[in-house]
Amino acid sequence: MARQAVLCLLVAACVSAQALRSLKTVAVPETPGLDAYVRDRAALIALGKAFFWDMQAGSDGRTACASCHFHAGADHRAQNQISDPNNPFPANLVLTASVFPTRQLADPENRNSAVLRDSPMRLGSAGTFRRAFKDIVPGQAAEVGEEMLDHPEFMIGDLQVRRVTVRNSPSVINAAYYVRGFWDGRAARVFNGATISGIAGDAPGAMTLRDGVLAREPVQLNNASLASQAVGPILDPLEMSYAGRTWPKLGKKMLRLQALALQRVAPDDSVLGPMAVLDGRGLKMSYTGMVQTAFQPLLWESNEIVEGEYSQAEMNFPLFWGLALQAYQSTLISNDSRLDRFLEGDASAMTPEEQEGMRLFQTTGRCTVCHGGAELSAATITNSVGRGNRAFQRTGVRDPGEDAGSGGGSFKSIGLRNIELTGPYFHNGGQATLEQVIDFYARGGDFANNAIRSFPVNSTQKAALVAFLRALTDDRVRYERAPFDHPELCVPAGSPEEKPGALFAAPAPPFLRSSRENWAGIGPVGASGNKFPLQTFEELLQGVGADGSRANAMNEACTAPLP
Ligand code: HEC
Ligand code: HEC
Repeated sequence: MARQAVLCLLVAACVSAQALRSLKTVAVPETPGLDAYVRDRAALIALGKAFFWDMQAGSDGRTACASCHFHAGADHRAQNQISDPNNPFPANLVLTASVFPTRQLADPENRNSAVLRDSPMRLGSAGTFRRAFKDIVPGQAAEVGEEMLDHPEFMIGDLQVRRVTVRNSPSVINAAYYVRGFWDGRAARVFNGATISGIAGDAPGAMTLRDGVLAREPVQLNNASLASQAVGPILDPLEMSYAGRTWPKLGKKMLRLQALALQRVAPDDSVLGPMAVLDGRGLKMSYTGMVQTAFQPLLWESNEIVEGEYSQAEMNFPLFWGLALQAYQSTLISNDSRLDRFLEGDASAMTPEEQEGMRLFQTTGRCTVCHGGAELSAATITNSVGRGNRAFQRTGVRDPGEDAGSGGGSFKSIGLRNIELTGPYFHNGGQATLEQVIDFYARGGDFANNAIRSFPVNSTQKAALVAFLRALTDDRVRYERAPFDHPELCVPAGSPEEKPGALFAAPAPPFLRSSRENWAGIGPVGASGNKFPLQTFEELLQGVGADGSRANAMNEACTAPLP
């Protein structure tokens, strides 16, 4: 043990920053052995895109993966996004610029200056109402549930609001490059077919039909952290599920449904367009048809009934879900930012100020120590090999006692592409602007014992660093052009208050203790993208773009027929 520690220290001392490169130089990692399960990769991607955006997947028939990842791969809501597992916090709050940074210092450049305010609260993502799963109703997206009132922190008076995650939603764009998923890396590199741990013994294995016999076979697929990740939130009673929902029940519900039945799909959607119902909603296919096109028959063709109730395909639903979502998210690669073009030799792609910012990013700021290489992250398959592992680092965002992350307050050295569009920042969402992030690093982090070295920075240099971070945006992401186009979505955005502290009851049974909600519409976007750029989080807080000059300003009506 002691020898290991010394070695690590020596290695850390001599670790060199990874040189910046165009992301076009790094291929998306392949998952060896995938073809044993998959027979049509294009169909797999289409299935994954439908799964990702489909509101029918949540137990309430209204919550998709995309509900928390619809805006440059991250969340963009400003009401009922706060939580804290350890302390009281204001439920249903409307975020304003004055909430940020959540730790405010008299002198933002000096960590030892007076602390004007310090809040351990987290800027997370609203998930689902707390309800117990009773059953599905075949043919219907909304499941039967029963309200559970055991989380009074998500109640105002006697009415519930949606529960909120304890960490900020990171972007799913470029996530295919990570060795492990989540801020703390708990989604394993190896996919076991059903759980995030990757451990074979944690999952029942795939149910395969060989020589007329159905049998379980263990699944162990490498370079598949996105598949491991995807099987987490779907059954999580905070994010998408009523408590106690099971995989085969979910399979039984989903496989009978028309894909994206509630949502409009652009006829020129880069993946789903050819399957879209024109002048209507959803795709022309059911999930059974899509699964059968994408996956090998040995995973679904048996007529046997399992456990007295389920088909083979229903039993294999977690495998379908994980692999399809991984395949779709692996297409979300933003490798055409102005930085990429500059590094490919187009000297005019970045302004002199942005180039100065790039120099500071690599030198004074030491940013490339953890945000280097092509992915701007030390946590990827390519960058985390070799000496001096910087994949998970302690940067002193919060006291490790509040959230240990991957251990001792370490979190993923996350990629920085499209960062101008994905605020608020850090695992706790505690900073709203890139200027606040630069101040944080320049003062050497907020909490002691971290790997950040403070550095002097004047206002010109700060502006240059921020300008450089803005050069990391790919315009296809900014304008939601293919592959970042998508179906329509409606997202819950807090609950209206009749007067402060008083919510409106839901209009209809059976959920009499759930509040009425605000819903924001996100329109369908086809391959050629939006006319207007995505709104930044800062602009959302300031109301910039509410006049229609920004996409996703969160003030459009929801037109989906919510169940
Ligand atoms: C209720 C909001 C919510 C929903 C719904 C949701 N996520 Fe997330 N997602 C989050 C949050 C919060 C995190 C970070 C959690 C953590 O690291 O502990 C996250 C993390 C991720 C990551 C990891 C990115 C990284 O940097 O490692 C991926 C990928 C992802 N989600 C994809 C999905 C998929 C696929 C679904 C649907 C199956 C989904 N999410 C549903 C909120 C959500
Ligand atoms: C010692 C490693 C390390 C160094 C050096 C470092 N970072 Fe980070 N960075 C991280 C880690 C780890 C996180 C996640 C921390 C957390 O959320 O608790 C992070 C998060 C970020 C985020 C927020 C990303 C998001 O999606 O919320 C930004 C922006 C960022 N870093 C920019 C920079 C800049 C600019 C520099 C140089 C001034 C820098 N980093 C230097 C490790 C580092």
